[in-house]
Amino acid sequence: MERTILFVDDEPAILSSIRRSLKVAKVDWNCEFVLSGKEALNFCRESTVDLIVTDGKMPEMSGNELLEKLRNNPESRDIPTIMLSGYFEDTLRMKALEMGIVEFLNKPIIPGEFILRLRNVLRLKTISDELKIANKDLIETRMQIIRRLGKAAEYKDDDTGRHVIRVAHYSRIIADGMRLSPDVVELIFQTAPMHDIGKIGIPDNILKKPGVLDPGELEVMRQHSSLGEDVLIPLAGEELAIYKRHSEMGEDILGEENTPLLKMASVIAASHHEKWDGHGYPRGLKGEEIPLEARIVAIADIFDALSSKRYYKEAFPIKKCLSIIEELEGNHLDPNVVVSFNRNFDKIIDIQKRMGD
Ligand SMILES: [Fe+2]
Ligand SMILES: [Fe+2]
Repeated sequence: MERTILFVDDEPAILSSIRRSLKVAKVDWNCEFVLSGKEALNFCRESTVDLIVTDGKMPEMSGNELLEKLRNNPESRDIPTIMLSGYFEDTLRMKALEMGIVEFLNKPIIPGEFILRLRNVLRLKTISDELKIANKDLIETRMQIIRRLGKAAEYKDDDTGRHVIRVAHYSRIIADGMRLSPDVVELIFQTAPMHDIGKIGIPDNILKKPGVLDPGELEVMRQHSSLGEDVLIPLAGEELAIYKRHSEMGEDILGEENTPLLKMASVIAASHHEKWDGHGYPRGLKGEEIPLEARIVAIADIFDALSSKRYYKEAFPIKKCLSIIEELEGNHLDPNVVVSFNRNFDKIIDIQKRMGD
């Protein structure tokens, strides 16, 4: 890949001498020359630059000012920069170093050494570019694996596997509405799809047990306990007990201690059926004992179970879903999470419409 170096100096004579040295050394770089910081910034906006060599003292925009502008722009922030100077005051040198200048070189340049230094910096730039690409690839692969793992579990009780993706989106909206830090919001988004991973360990005859609840049955259930995903399913006794094991199985599959990502995934899988009033499972945690991310995924999960079709039920009209959520507030669901759910309901319904089955 051809590398581009941009040289910035207000004195044309300096640029000519650099150009000569490069020619003598027969380098295979694409070398560009501009006379001011402003031109340099314009050039960086239009083209990819791998290394900038700038004069320290220039009339309208100094080397440090140019550096500051480059650093403030995400596009140009990581371009390595070398500064050329005759005499450069200590404070200015310090400032440049703080902003990440790679090297200071004295004028006049010594051609042989100059070329070698450029080559060394470019070599590091190549390594860092390759790392960036590899890292992006890793992040992308990790995301894909997580989603597919979650989807694999969901296929066991949902025809489309889209439930987990919707739950991830709803959870992100709710978490964001609670002003959690962007990193945490993103982590919740990435890990929520695995909340039901434990269903891999639950037999199909239990997960896919047909039977639609008629309104009468629904009313009876409503009187007996709060209506969550687990209450709506047509299971009882031993079968229900087996079904409920999916929380612990999920925790077991994901492990306890690991990267922040797997750790959160495990916490969510373990606690997404805990209830605010302490009557959930598997541990009967109460209130803020339940990790916040699990409380968030819980409402997303329930809303999606209510608003979509399942083996055992039709999709409920939105109005009905909302009135059930209202009933669950404070007993099954954390009231603060419900507030964020309600406040951001337009965004949630937008996802529901776009990603519905
Ligand atoms: Fe679940
Ligand atoms: Fe779920």
